[in-house]
Amino acid sequence: MDFFEVINSRRSVRKFKQDVPVSDEQVRKILDAAIMAPSAGNGQSWHFVVLRDKALKGEIAAKAGHQAFIDQAPVAIVVCADMERAGSKYGDRGRGTYALQETAAAVENMLLAANALSLASCWVGAFDEAKAAEILKLPSHLRPVAILPIGAPAEHAVRVPQRRHIEDVTEFR
Ligand SMILES: Cc1cc2nc3c(=O)[nH]c(=O)nc-3n(C[C@H](O)[C@H](O)[C@H](O)COP(=O)(O)O)c2cc1C
Repeated sequence: MDFFEVINSRRSVRKFKQDVPVSDEQVRKILDAAIMAPSAGNGQSWHFVVLRDKALKGEIAAKAGHQAFIDQAPVAIVVCADMERAGSKYGDRGRGTYALQETAAAVENMLLAANALSLASCWVGAFDEAKAAEILKLPSHLRPVAILPIGAPAEHAVRVPQRRHIEDVTEFR
């Protein structure tokens, strides 16, 4: 796939094939894409927790995410913002803005990498951060901001979810 095909064919997938594994090498490639994202002053205020453990994944899905499909993916990656790191260089701007922007950039790279590998994912943002942190026993400076279940897609979107038009969201001055 060329670059624009990777972007345009990426879809949020919420059903995964149970019998197709995701290899460590594939996970590594997705993480490689994540850490190539830009970050403020190259601060790289991100931290990734790769979940393969069925019980842990299940607990996150049931108690933090309330989204069962997280558990059905062979792998789920919890993307965390390292607030200490973000704040150490840029103070409130780092903690309040850059930490989220940097992790968001990493997440998008990961979604695109998964698609390029013929895998699929979904950016899960609606979850109880405190609960997830408790289940994963995260230190207090790590804020879990996204969960990415990753697997071989078992559903294919028939059409692209509608986008607002460029003319409606852009000003050309
Ligand atoms: C910040 C953010 C949070 C999201 N949270 C969820 C979520 O909790 N659960 C879910 O099923 N999809 C979630 N999504 C996926 C969106 O629903 C999806 O990207 C959107 O409907 C467009 O579809 P597409 O990704 O297939 O283009 C989230 C996306 C973003 C960017």
